Amino acid sequence: MLGAVQIGVLAACIVLFVPMGMAGWHLSRNKMLFFSGALFITLAVGVHLMPYFPSLSSIVSTFSSVVVVENRDSCISFLHDMDWKNDSMLGELSMNSSSSKQSWTWSQSSHVLSCEFQKLGRTHVLDLLNGSWIVVSGDSEARLFVLSLLGLMLGTTESIENDLFKRHSNYETLVEENGAKVDFIWAPFPINLTDILKKFEKEHKYPDVLVMGSGLWHMLHFTNASNYGELLGSIRKSVVSLLPFSPEFGIDGPVAGSVSIQSPHMFWLGMPLLINSMLNTEAKKEKMTEKMCDAYESELYRSRLLRRSGGPLVLLDIRSLSLGCGSHCTEDGMHYDVLIYDAAVHIMLNALLIESHQRI
Ligand SMILES: *[C@@H]1O[C@H](CO)[C@@H](O)[C@H](O)[C@H]1NC(C)=O
Ligand SMILES: *[C@@H]1O[C@H](CO)[C@@H](O)[C@H](O)[C@H]1NC(C)=O
Ligand SMILES: *[C@@H]1O[C@H](CO)[C@@H](O)[C@H](O)[C@H]1NC(C)=O
Ligand SMILES: *[C@@H]1O[C@H](CO)[C@@H](O)[C@H](O)[C@H]1NC(C)=O
Ligand SMILES: *[C@@H]1O[C@H](CO)[C@@H](O)[C@H](O)[C@H]1NC(C)=O
Repeated sequence: MLGAVQIGVLAACIVLFVPMGMAGWHLSRNKMLFFSGALFITLAVGVHLMPYFPSLSSIVSTFSSVVVVENRDSCISFLHDMDWKNDSMLGELSMNSSSSKQSWTWSQSSHVLSCEFQKLGRTHVLDLLNGSWIVVSGDSEARLFVLSLLGLMLGTTESIENDLFKRHSNYETLVEENGAKVDFIWAPFPINLTDILKKFEKEHKYPDVLVMGSGLWHMLHFTNASNYGELLGSIRKSVVSLLPFSPEFGIDGPVAGSVSIQSPHMFWLGMPLLINSMLNTEAKKEKMTEKMCDAYESELYRSRLLRRSGGPLVLLDIRSLSLGCGSHCTEDGMHYDVLIYDAAVHIMLNALLIESHQRI
């Protein structure tokens, strides 16, 4: 903070040294006293009026917090820099096919190390999400993401798996230990996400954390990338009208001055890498080609929904994570090992830490 003390010291210096400097210009003592008095009165009036000019005081507080904010904000773009390791030796030794043979860590490069990302333990996650309302909405990918998140918060997923995986249904739970509410809302198509956003707006009820994603169903049933792009455009419009600050963002998101305004933290759950030869129906193999996936992805970037293209949502890049883990991390070429979604959850949690200027 550039606090009152510093401003006071600065003002005192001006009152003292400016007239002294002028004395060097051979002004008479009376003139010097006059200037000194005039300066003092101007500064005193200025300091007392400052609180009534919000733009001025907000410039001061923005200025003082920018250093911290900017440093950590750039870290958001390194969150996906992960190293994937194949512990196949370990796998062979334990002869246990249910245990995952892959593991991940954040990259050891210096720019990533300086961001101090952390895999949060259960207590820290409960702390961070204490009392929050978290909504995850989308298709089966989003369901797997919820499973990982709840696994981390509850310590086990046994009790929830049956309910969570009821076909095409919603799911909600209250984590008793920290009062966090976690909702999964089934929304296979982009239009379903727009409907959910409109409902939030109509009811003036917004989650603290919103994670959404959609694309696979649209690709299979409509197979039309430009139509997908248009639908993403309306999602963006609905998201922007939820936000308390201006609709246009810099490349790095909202300006630093507005971070203190309570606004939901929002994420886009990207599509996974599809491995065409492994897909489990002929229709999927025919329609969900590599070329179509690329076309859908470029529509996502063009839609300006994501932070990196000046939009409001932070991407949880499932495609890059599934690429890192590799084809042996999936059985149907579409749904991946729980490890991928765990990694995505940790990316989200670290982004939340960065956005709320906290460290563990
Ligand atoms: C990782 O291990 C699995 C078997 O456990 C193997 O099929 C796969 O080819 C390995 N991948 C890499 C990149 O070494
Ligand atoms: C395989 O893993 C399960 C649970 O993860 C464990 O109960 C079981 O003992 C393991 N089996 C072997 C052979 O290590
Ligand atoms: C959650 O927050 C409430 C107050 O907001 C506090 O009383 C409680 O101890 C917190 N719980 C945890 C697990 O931090
Ligand atoms: C999603 O949107 C489609 C098309 O409008 C609609 O038929 C379907 O009922 C919606 N699903 C949900 C879960 O809202
Ligand atoms: C694809 O979507 C666009 C935009 O909605 C539409 O104009 C076009 O006719 C669609 N193409 C096909 C083949 O349905």
